[in-house]
Amino acid sequence: MKTQKLLLLIFFLNTTYLIFSQPYKNPNINIEKRINDLLSRMTLKEKIGQMQQYNFWKLDDATLKKVTEGKVGSFLNASNKKDKIKLQKAAIEKSRLGIPLIFGRDVIHGYKTILPIPLGEAATWNPELVKKGAEIAAQEATENNINWTFAPMIDIARDPRWGRIAESCGEDPFLAGTIGAAMIKGFQGNNLNDNSTIAACAKHYVGYGAAEGGRDYNTTLIPERELRNVYLKTFQTAVNSGVATLMSAFNDLNGVPASGNKFTLKKILRNEWNFNGFVVSDWEAISEMIKHGFAKDGNEAAFKAVDAGVNMEMVSENYANYLEKLINSHKVNGRWIDTLVAGILRIKFKLGLFDTPINSKPVSEFLPAQNKQIAKSIATESIVMLQNKNNTLPLKVSEINSLAVIGPLANSPKAQMGTWTLDGNPKDVITPLNAIKSEYGKKLKIYYSKAMESPRSTNKKLFKKAIQTAKKSDAVLLFLGEDEELSGETHCRAFLNLPGAQENLIIKLSKLNKPLILIIMAGRPLTFGNITNKVNSILYAWHPGTMGGEAISDIIFGKTSPSGKLPVTFPRTVGQIPLYYNHKNTGRPPSPNQLGRVLGTPVNPKGYASYYLDVDYTPAYYFGYGESYSSFNYSDLTLSKKIIDFNDTLKVSVIVKNTGKYKAKETIQLYIRDLYASVTRPVKELKRFKKAEFIPGETKTIHFKLTVDDFKFYDINMKYNAEPGDFVLFVGSSANDKDLLKSNFTLTKY
Ligand code: NOJ
Repeated sequence: MKTQKLLLLIFFLNTTYLIFSQPYKNPNINIEKRINDLLSRMTLKEKIGQMQQYNFWKLDDATLKKVTEGKVGSFLNASNKKDKIKLQKAAIEKSRLGIPLIFGRDVIHGYKTILPIPLGEAATWNPELVKKGAEIAAQEATENNINWTFAPMIDIARDPRWGRIAESCGEDPFLAGTIGAAMIKGFQGNNLNDNSTIAACAKHYVGYGAAEGGRDYNTTLIPERELRNVYLKTFQTAVNSGVATLMSAFNDLNGVPASGNKFTLKKILRNEWNFNGFVVSDWEAISEMIKHGFAKDGNEAAFKAVDAGVNMEMVSENYANYLEKLINSHKVNGRWIDTLVAGILRIKFKLGLFDTPINSKPVSEFLPAQNKQIAKSIATESIVMLQNKNNTLPLKVSEINSLAVIGPLANSPKAQMGTWTLDGNPKDVITPLNAIKSEYGKKLKIYYSKAMESPRSTNKKLFKKAIQTAKKSDAVLLFLGEDEELSGETHCRAFLNLPGAQENLIIKLSKLNKPLILIIMAGRPLTFGNITNKVNSILYAWHPGTMGGEAISDIIFGKTSPSGKLPVTFPRTVGQIPLYYNHKNTGRPPSPNQLGRVLGTPVNPKGYASYYLDVDYTPAYYFGYGESYSSFNYSDLTLSKKIIDFNDTLKVSVIVKNTGKYKAKETIQLYIRDLYASVTRPVKELKRFKKAEFIPGETKTIHFKLTVDDFKFYDINMKYNAEPGDFVLFVGSSANDKDLLKSNFTLTKY
């Protein structure tokens, strides 16, 4: 007993001594003081070590040695918990100053419980729910000692050819910014120091989504005003939401690669927005500046990245190889290096990595029921009903005896999870086939036919059986779209129609004259041509994740009404791209009397307006669009004032009534148009939205408030200002004029 007490005392004294002699180890003092103390003890080599992130390949002596020597600041892709513990112990217990590692991983839409792809999450228009999704992802990831996720991806995505649109929050800066901020809050919680929170990383800074032709990694040319008004907006929202880190992108932005871009990384991010977390480059993006033709060699690439303010290099080793020489030769200022290292240490301190013991609790074996429920709610709210002729949906069990479940995506767990699901297990996935069978298998005869080996197959040999399956059923559920490999990083497409022989299958099945319900799983907007005429209903389910099957089943059978709205415009055909709702008006906008083009056949070439001869100028489906089983009536759009000045708050209200038979959620959207200004403004800009639930017959008054900040933009002098003038204000259910009530107001200076 006595010895035990003595040992405890020695331990206590030793710790107290350490804390007082090494203030950076003292959790009770201010983080900035701890950073300064630690920096004052670090050698140049140790500082550079913090700035280098490595991909984790395997746990070997060489890797451990590097850590022990203080040459590693972070690893990505260390998936095994035991490995991470060993690496962290080497850093904390064996390196000279005991600086912990930060483990990063792509936890993009869920960790083990896979949520819908981010584009689907954005389609919920429900930031509160999205936040909960990020919370459970963080909680599951922290169990496996992950400290940092490379999400959210808040690149504005206006081109559905680009495979990474799947990972984006859509085309609109306000919606994507709001959804991205919800993810950041969910990942980071109120305190990074909590056991179940992780640092977020807003990526890819900046412009990556504007790649020419939708080809991943391609050149982006974005004029400064457009950059600031559109592409930077989401990142500014992220910084204002307290995002811990940013990732610098791969792309060449206006001739300067984003990972060596002083204008965006230093002037805007640090000087204008005062960001004090850290920036990690994308994978080898610093080395790629040589291929871009922006740096002669690794030495110059390291210089340009560090000079621009990239704190940490991912995978390539230009920092490790060249920084020391660059600093010793005074090409790079030592104080600047301290600032960059401080950014990294700040996040490590905030995460509590210096203070909390290494988590060695075993990882849970099963997905928590509560997490599955959240994943299911997100999946349910992400589903967008594009069409429902003759109210074919919801299906009523009392009205049918049998059901055909057809298609390569009806029972395809991996495809259902979508892109970026490093840690999701297909075995946990509930597919639509399984969900429908387990819930309705006793009440209905359910027949299944895969119809195609894979969604990309061009072989029609399984069609015959699928048609027989459909023939003996009262209704047909057809699951088509893209598998997980058709979207995501590098997975760009030049054709956006349903892949393989899918259209053919639809045509064949439509001839049976059975209720035909098309459920699409996909990582992007697809184009349908005339195929929509062949089916009764279309549900767009994105890649809905682990619980997607139950979510889809609940919607098909009317347990829930669809409430998803498109976060991105759906073109009629690839030739219309880029097509987005917040475009400029041009001097010759097309007008409704120019509608009615037959797809693909050039008709009357009259009318000198901005449109195509062979397709309508309107999209297939508008941004913000999504049908419900119920119907909503909008009326009484009221503005508190018709003339407001810069100090006023404009109060807007609208009455929304559920005029249908179903309890349902509706997203009420508010757009403005600034009619004339020192620079041209978009025809519409989303400024507010609210998702609310209505029981049948229920009426709600929905209120919004706008202030002068909502009317600001980068003006002719590149100043962020609002300008006096006339505005149109729209409120309604999508960005389509016909779905909107309109009013106007005038902004005056005094
Ligand atoms: C490259 C991707 O562009 C980026 O988004 C991702 O986080 C990194 N690889 C790390 O996996």
